[in-house]
Amino acid sequence: MADSRAFYATTPIYYVNAKPHLGHAYTTIIGDALCRWHRLLGDDVHFLTGTDEHGLKIQQAADAAGMAPQAFADSIAPLFADAWKRLNISNDDFIRTTESRHRLGVQKLLQACYDNGDIELDTYRGLYCVACEAYFTEDDLVEGNCPIHKKPVEQVQEENYFFRLSRYGDRLLQWYADHPGAIVPDYRMNEVIGFIKQGLLDFSISRTSFSWGIPLPWDDKHVTYVWFDALANYITAVGYGTDDDRFNRHWPVDFHMIGKDIIRFHCVYWPAMLMSAGLEPPKGWAVGGWLLVGGEKMSKTTGNVVNPLDLIDDIGVDGFRYYVLAETPYGADGDFTYEGLIGRYNSDLANNLGNLLSRVATVVGKKCDGIGPRPRPDSPLAVAAAEALAETTARWHEVQPSRALEATWQLIRATNAHLETNEPWKAEPGPDLDAVMGDALEALRIVAILASPAVPDTAQAVWERIGMTGAVADQRLPRDAQWGGYPGGVTVVKGDPLFPRRQL
Ligand code: ME8
Ligand code: MG
Repeated sequence: MADSRAFYATTPIYYVNAKPHLGHAYTTIIGDALCRWHRLLGDDVHFLTGTDEHGLKIQQAADAAGMAPQAFADSIAPLFADAWKRLNISNDDFIRTTESRHRLGVQKLLQACYDNGDIELDTYRGLYCVACEAYFTEDDLVEGNCPIHKKPVEQVQEENYFFRLSRYGDRLLQWYADHPGAIVPDYRMNEVIGFIKQGLLDFSISRTSFSWGIPLPWDDKHVTYVWFDALANYITAVGYGTDDDRFNRHWPVDFHMIGKDIIRFHCVYWPAMLMSAGLEPPKGWAVGGWLLVGGEKMSKTTGNVVNPLDLIDDIGVDGFRYYVLAETPYGADGDFTYEGLIGRYNSDLANNLGNLLSRVATVVGKKCDGIGPRPRPDSPLAVAAAEALAETTARWHEVQPSRALEATWQLIRATNAHLETNEPWKAEPGPDLDAVMGDALEALRIVAILASPAVPDTAQAVWERIGMTGAVADQRLPRDAQWGGYPGGVTVVKGDPLFPRRQL
């Protein structure tokens, strides 16, 4: 499809000092669903995730495990790749920062900023949190500790190279003024602008106190600061430093999906680094809040980790994906509870969607000889379907999956209500009953398409049970969600319940 629009989105690359947890799964599932939505729109999607493998924090984790850092990273990175497979994540690439394609690109980026005069040698003294891999000022600290990890910071003094971020304040403010919708939700944009207006400090981009990193091309006693190294993954993975044509096809990225913990690095440091190297800043950032467990951000450092793979054993991949996407408005913090997970599953999946499919298949089986009738062109449900398509589209465009799903589920509710009004289970076979059931099947067909980014396997199962052929993921919007696409005359299959009810 030469004329399709390119759409490039990324997740953070996750540190390999921890196994994948619910927080990582959260951002990755949101990114996956957004990319699947864009594939439905016909965009030429590239979805990137990966692992962040250099720096002091990884070095220390490897030491603690009694392993060399590369061997340690090699043991953890596949856990992320495997978790994403099990969660049905449709990433097109998985970058590891220890790959040579990445090293080459990082060195090219460093050299470009250095040649532009934005990287200089200086002495630095500061308070450092290894868990964040970031410096803090006295004011940032909470009771003398890192505000995020609540652990002591270290006094560090080093001679190292600095990126002259202080030169970029005005340019960044101007750029954001020219690109008002670039950060979603918009209140995160205000946070970034406020931060830039406070005045930007240069940040050190190299370390000499350890060696686990990429050497600076002009001074190999220094290794690259892990954040400079990590941010570059977004360009090195699409060919920066190794394949210019490929890079130019993908860059600038449409969305960096990130958590609010890393907003300064992504929305302040990163666009300045790109500007320095003569590259375009990202087109967009979608910033999520934290999933809290017992009121605290889940992280290895705070020790309240929930393993997403345990949850999918329990509730199924789509049950888990749906919960993550539907429960919390993207951008706000959300509290993970097991009760919430089961509650969502029972109400939205078992009662609404599962029940609709099973009612429809039962009546069609008993009263239409198992053959789905055609929908009516002037069905009362056609309006609800058109609204669901328009609303769902608008909410995905804003990167608000919970609202997009709410809009899709309105059509499910309208269809259940349509059945309750008409009570086809009491009606005699004939044209009136056929009309009601044809409408319900058509609504289910449209629901399957609209819900497929969130619950891909379920959507495919619905698609097949109502007698559609091919892959629901191959449908194209808006074309294939127009009312009237259900062919009729096809076999409807009842099957086992898609979502058996769960007890707490
Ligand atoms: O920061 N709730 O990696 P990381 C929601 N390597 N999201 C969460 C979360 C939670 N409790 N915990 C983690 C790093 N996340 C760097 C990134 S990118 C160039 C380098 C998600 O392993 C969220 O997206 O600490 C957060 O930004 C990310 O994981 C941090 O993962
Ligand atoms: Mg972290």
